Amino acid sequence: MLRNIPKIYLNNAATSWPKPPEVLAVVTKSLSLPVFGSGRTTGSHGEDYVTIAREALSRFLAAEPPEHIVFSHNATDSLNILIQGFLTGKQEGCHVLTTALDHNSVLRPLHEYERQNRIQLSIIPFDGCSVRPDAVEAAIRPDTRLMVMTHGSNVLGSVQDIRGIGTILHDHGIYFIVDGAQTAGHIPVSLRDLPVDAYVFTGHKGLLGIPGTGGFYLRDPEAIAPVRFGGTGTDSFSLLQPREMPERFEIGTHNYPGLAALAAGVKFIEERGILSIAEKAEEQTSFLIRELKRAATITIYNDHPDLPIVAFNIKGLQNDDVGFMLARAYGIIVRTGLHCAPLVHKTIDGGEGCVRLSLSWCTTDEECLIAANAIREIAGNADSQVSPA
Ligand SMILES: Cc1ncc(COP(=O)(O)O)c(C=O)c1O
Repeated sequence: MLRNIPKIYLNNAATSWPKPPEVLAVVTKSLSLPVFGSGRTTGSHGEDYVTIAREALSRFLAAEPPEHIVFSHNATDSLNILIQGFLTGKQEGCHVLTTALDHNSVLRPLHEYERQNRIQLSIIPFDGCSVRPDAVEAAIRPDTRLMVMTHGSNVLGSVQDIRGIGTILHDHGIYFIVDGAQTAGHIPVSLRDLPVDAYVFTGHKGLLGIPGTGGFYLRDPEAIAPVRFGGTGTDSFSLLQPREMPERFEIGTHNYPGLAALAAGVKFIEERGILSIAEKAEEQTSFLIRELKRAATITIYNDHPDLPIVAFNIKGLQNDDVGFMLARAYGIIVRTGLHCAPLVHKTIDGGEGCVRLSLSWCTTDEECLIAANAIREIAGNADSQVSPA
């Protein structure tokens, strides 16, 4: 039903929409023929979508060799595999670092291990919109073994100094897992050059794939113990999980229509050019911030984001009410509330949550203008009710 399709979709940091036509087409195409994949079928005609996706991600993230790209269900799943796999066999009670910018996909697994007394956790605060490398250095203890942190904040749109932080961590022999859920597909990432041990991505956001896909790049497979076991289509006589990559971590039947979509999303970004997508998004994000700032009752929490995200509140209105009005009166879809990053909100808005606009490759200038006018109109109405002239 056309009536149910959002008119202006500004919730791309949750899940990007629309997907490029090539992405949608390949999902159907991949399901229209028998699957081809080595080790699991005698069929030799057709596309090996899993390998195509692995090679696409390896190329796109400069992450070699391709076999060190592991596919999973999403970023959350990947973070769980990596955190659990790293802690397996480690000394009970070792010290782990994360940050107040992080998503519950990082915070909840780590809190669970803290609750079980398996780790001691320190959460490093952010300053402005970023975690300072010197704050990380100050938090390191002799027993610190691991740091897990986001590359880009899903609330503030700030890209973190992964190079600076990773260099400090590696000087101290600390393992570094980076959550790239908000950066992959939005900014160029070259893992060849970054001091990062494992980098997590998700398929359904900036990479323009569909939900149910994601994964991670792992520099040294031996650093992470497998935590799931099962069929791989290889070395089947052995009852032990293969040590080889990616079978060490990939079990069961792949979501190959999803991986076909992920490869098509990556190809689409490569063809358009990630820098040209980012440049347009940056101009539109700056425009929105400039326009919203014209209303005295709007508080913007991220004046200069690196990612196409704008976080704000309107004085005198609950963020949920603003979202409701934008959807119902203007057909503008955003996200409101805590954005699964509760510690960010404790710092910026007293834990109340905020409204988030997040743009994509497909957002038009006209949509930004309509959104800015709608938000200013809501703010103007609220203002006249709060303080009548
Ligand atoms: C920073 C960050 N990490 C992790 C996630 C979880 O991503 P996924 O839905 O792929 O598990 C999100 C998305 O909501 C996110 O913004």
